Amino acid sequence: SPTGDLAGLQVVISTGGTREPIDPVRYLGNRSSGRQGVAVAVAAAERGARVTLVAAHVDDGVLGDAQRHPAVDIQRAGTAAELDTTVRAAADRADVIVMAAAVADFSVPEVSDVKIRKEDGTVTLDLVENPDILVGLVEARRPGQTVVGFAAETADTDDELRERGIRKRARKGVDLLAVNRVGWQEGFEATENTVLFVDGTDEVVSRASGSKREVADALWDAVLRLR
Ligand code: C5P
Repeated sequence: SPTGDLAGLQVVISTGGTREPIDPVRYLGNRSSGRQGVAVAVAAAERGARVTLVAAHVDDGVLGDAQRHPAVDIQRAGTAAELDTTVRAAADRADVIVMAAAVADFSVPEVSDVKIRKEDGTVTLDLVENPDILVGLVEARRPGQTVVGFAAETADTDDELRERGIRKRARKGVDLLAVNRVGWQEGFEATENTVLFVDGTDEVVSRASGSKREVADALWDAVLRLR
């Protein structure tokens, strides 16, 4: 049986960007690479957990790290609705759930059966808001289950980033929120990820800066301190 500080834990992690179909050949997507969530999955498996990785669209080559690990079971989900169903089903037996996926906020309610054609120069797309999967997981949370979210935030100052993180942690009701600074002006290397962790005390409980694997390990350290 596995050794490591996560041995005995069943974890579910979502990653990548969802794609919402418009017609048979088009979708609404986002630029998430899936790298951070895959790093969270690989770190968990190497630390002894059994992992279900629910992967939306992930950049070519990124999923390979997780596919090679025998403790990682990969399930695919294309749309936000599929991700919702797949994560909820896996969450039934999970001790920890980490939502790292970039879930589309909107979808097209009536997907066209035929390719939409150029006709009069304008096309209008109706969009409806998708349910927040993370909030649904928090509502369905069993005793002993830890729910973790990610938030990508722009902020001019460290204080502003912290305040945004604290507000979002409370709004989502998660046990832990990993707040990711995006578009910061102050000179971090583009390859590095900088994250602060906010828990239910509404405090920043730890910070991590480095590779996505280093950030993933810091996330698991923070989860273990809560359990
Ligand atoms: O509100 P925001 O999109 O910043 O929240 C990000 C967090 O919420 C991430 O953990 C993401 O996976 C999750 N999310 C979700 N369902 C949505 C939108 C975001 O679970 N519809």
